[in-house]
Amino acid sequence: MTQLYDAIGSTYRHHRRPDARIASAITCALDDAWTVVNVGAGAGAYEPRDRSVVAVEPSLTMIRQRPDGTAPVVQASALQLPFRDRTFGAALAVLTVHHWPDRARGLTELARVVRDRVVVVTWDPGSAGFWLTQDYFPEIVAIDRQIFPTMEDFRRTLGDVEVRCLPIPHDCSDGFLGAYWRRPRAYLDAGTRSAISTFAKLAHVEAGLARLQEDIEEGTWERRYGHILNEAELDLGYRIVTAKGVPR
Ligand SMILES: C[S@@+](CC[C@H](N)C(=O)[O-])C[C@H]1O[C@@H](n2cnc3c(N)ncnc32)[C@H](O)[C@@H]1O
Repeated sequence: MTQLYDAIGSTYRHHRRPDARIASAITCALDDAWTVVNVGAGAGAYEPRDRSVVAVEPSLTMIRQRPDGTAPVVQASALQLPFRDRTFGAALAVLTVHHWPDRARGLTELARVVRDRVVVVTWDPGSAGFWLTQDYFPEIVAIDRQIFPTMEDFRRTLGDVEVRCLPIPHDCSDGFLGAYWRRPRAYLDAGTRSAISTFAKLAHVEAGLARLQEDIEEGTWERRYGHILNEAELDLGYRIVTAKGVPR
C-alpha cells in the first residue's frame, strides 16, 4: 500500500486539500487532547496547528509533500509504532485504516500509544454508497466493503466506540471518493481520479466513464439525481469513530 501511495501520491496535495468543515469535526472529536499522533498522515491534512502533533507516514512520496512548518514526521507503519505506551493524549487516523495490511493490529497499536482517545475518520462498509458507486462503478464498493473495517470491527478492537456521521459538503475541497457527489463532471477528470486510491485499483474504468459522460450530456444524470442538487451536504457513509478510555 505504501507502494500504491508512492505511485499515486505525487499530485495528492493538489486534489486533496483539507476541508474546513471536516477539520472542525475532527477537532471536536479530539476534544482537549493536547498531544496527538497522526497516523497515516499523508501530506498533513487535518493536523491541528494548535496542539503538539507527531505525524507517522510510511510513504516517502507523501512525506515529501508535507508543507514546511507541518508537524515532525516519522517514516513508519501503523502496524509498529515507534513510541512507548501512553505517549500521546490522542491518536488520529484519517481515511487510512483501510490501507493497512492488518487493520486490527494497527488499531491496537493506536490504542497502545494513547492515554485518552483514538479518533478515526473512515467509511462504514454497511452503508449503501452513492450514485457513482451504485450505478457506474459497483466494483469500487465491492473493493471498499472488503477493506474498510465494520463498526463492529472497531468495537472488537477498541471497545466501546462513539460513531458520528460525517456529512460531506457539496463543495468539499478534499477530493476523496465521495467529495464530488454534487459535481458529477469532476469524476471524468483523470487528475481528480488520480488522487482517489480505489480508482487506481480498477483495471478498467473506460466503460463506466463513457456511460457517465453520456448520461451527463443527455440529461439522464440530472433526471435521475437532480433532487440531490438541492442538498448542501449528504450522508455518504463517512463516519468519525471515537474510542475513549481505550482497552489495552
Ligand atoms: C488517503 S491517504 C490519507 C492521508 C491523510 N490522512 C489525509 O487525510 O489526507 C492514506 C494514507 O495512508 C498511508 N498508509 C498506507 N499504509 C499505511 C500503513 N501501514 N501505516 C500507516 N499509514 C499507511 C498512505 O501512505 C497514505 O498517506
